[in-house]
Amino acid sequence: MTQDESKRKAAEAALPYIKDVAILGVGTGSTVNHFIDCLADFNLTKEIKGAVSSSIATTERLKKIGIPVMELSESGNLDVYVDGADETNALKQLIKGGGGALTREKIIAGASKKFVCIVDESKTVKVLGKFPLPVEVIPMARSFVAREMVKLGGQPIWRENYVTDNGCEIIDVHNMEIVEPIALERLVNNIPGVVSVGIFALRPADVVLVAKASGVETL
Ligand code: 5RP
Repeated sequence: MTQDESKRKAAEAALPYIKDVAILGVGTGSTVNHFIDCLADFNLTKEIKGAVSSSIATTERLKKIGIPVMELSESGNLDVYVDGADETNALKQLIKGGGGALTREKIIAGASKKFVCIVDESKTVKVLGKFPLPVEVIPMARSFVAREMVKLGGQPIWRENYVTDNGCEIIDVHNMEIVEPIALERLVNNIPGVVSVGIFALRPADVVLVAKASGVETL
């Protein structure tokens, strides 16, 4: 099975979780794109009244298949949020933000009762941090936050020529061995100029669906 086929399998496995859900939270990335394709392929677009989207890219894709996109302030809290991840550990704590949508993803995850995370097997790790940790920053704080991340043991690299949907910038921090995800999430959140950090540990996923060659495993 290719990685793309695995992503599709994980996406299909999320469909039972959205049964009878009128308004859905939808994340960002190639795995989520498969999930959106599934909504169309399995004729679920009529059953879904609307979606709250975590990025402009996802919004466009949802609109293309006829799902109305609404603001979180309009929908209120959500029952289910479906999104991918760059890494997950056994506690369902995640690194997210490879696609740059971490802040909106974190907001929707926080506002949802159930966060269903869909990944292929390559995303599972014992300790978070092999994947460079994305940190979204206010542009004027970029160098300052980078220096603070060096103090925390990381090697920050500016995601050049990239602006988030919020008009901010991203630093990808390499070589972090995140043994205490909750503590590090709090620490990085508190650096002035940080909009959000791609550790999802204070609000981890509730369910992680991991597509493997042998089938989809539920964490
Ligand atoms: C976007 C994300 C994505 O969920 C993450 O990057 C995984 O993407 P993909 O499904 O393409 O592997 O956090 O900000």
